Amino acid sequence: MRVDIVTIFPDMFREVFQFGIVGRAVKAELLSVAVHDLRDWTTDKHRSTDDSPYGGGPGMVMKVEPLVAAVEDVIARSSIEDARRVLALMSPRGVPLSQARASEMSKLDHIVLVAGRYEGVDERFLDVTGADEISIGDYVLSGGEIPAMVVVDALTRLLPGAISDPRSAEVDSFSHGHLDFPHYTRPAVFRDLAVPEVLLSGNHAAVGEWRQERAIADTRRRRPELLNNESVHLSRS
Ligand SMILES: C[S@@+](CC[C@H](N)C(=O)[O-])C[C@H]1O[C@@H](n2cnc3c(N)ncnc32)[C@H](O)[C@@H]1O
Repeated sequence: MRVDIVTIFPDMFREVFQFGIVGRAVKAELLSVAVHDLRDWTTDKHRSTDDSPYGGGPGMVMKVEPLVAAVEDVIARSSIEDARRVLALMSPRGVPLSQARASEMSKLDHIVLVAGRYEGVDERFLDVTGADEISIGDYVLSGGEIPAMVVVDALTRLLPGAISDPRSAEVDSFSHGHLDFPHYTRPAVFRDLAVPEVLLSGNHAAVGEWRQERAIADTRRRRPELLNNESVHLSRS
């Protein structure tokens, strides 16, 4: 999979994709990430990427011309067919990212992410490019760089071969419409807190049943709305 990110702060990405599962996916060439400085597509001597808003009001708005030029260039250079690509602007106004969306995106060949700044981007960027808008949650960050990192991380762990044991992604929270079960490792007792007996029993069927029950019970208590979703599949592991 190829990921292109357009930003005015490319240095923010210098190290973030070098660690853990994403770092290994890059080394194994399952994933290649290119980060582009939006200023490379500006045409004025100040290399401006923003301007004041029509209609007045606080803050600045990202200009449409460099954004469209950058995205069109990046897409043309990729020579990947449009049907295999998602182009998305990171935006709190977008559709919230879900595990299902990350899974869909992980099956594509090309992801182009645009990080906004200031008050946001000129709306005509969306009109011209047809970009999707992806939110990472109902709160406002100062820029789209961290949301772009979140998207890359979420979908990389779903790439075939990115996780050494693919079962771990299959039992993760949200994969089956409920939260993950709780995990324990040694020691068996810590400050009088013992690991649930069944996990030490060696009885795989009983362990699977306990995990399934805990996953559902915890989901019911913490995120009951997830269980109202018809796509809930009970997973045994
Ligand atoms: C300060 S925010 C702009 C917020 C915008 N005025 C609004 O209220 O919807 C600047 C940029 O940060 C990014 N951003 C902020 N919060 C985000 C979120 N929850 N999800 C995705 N991107 C976000 C977007 O790229 C956005 O253009």
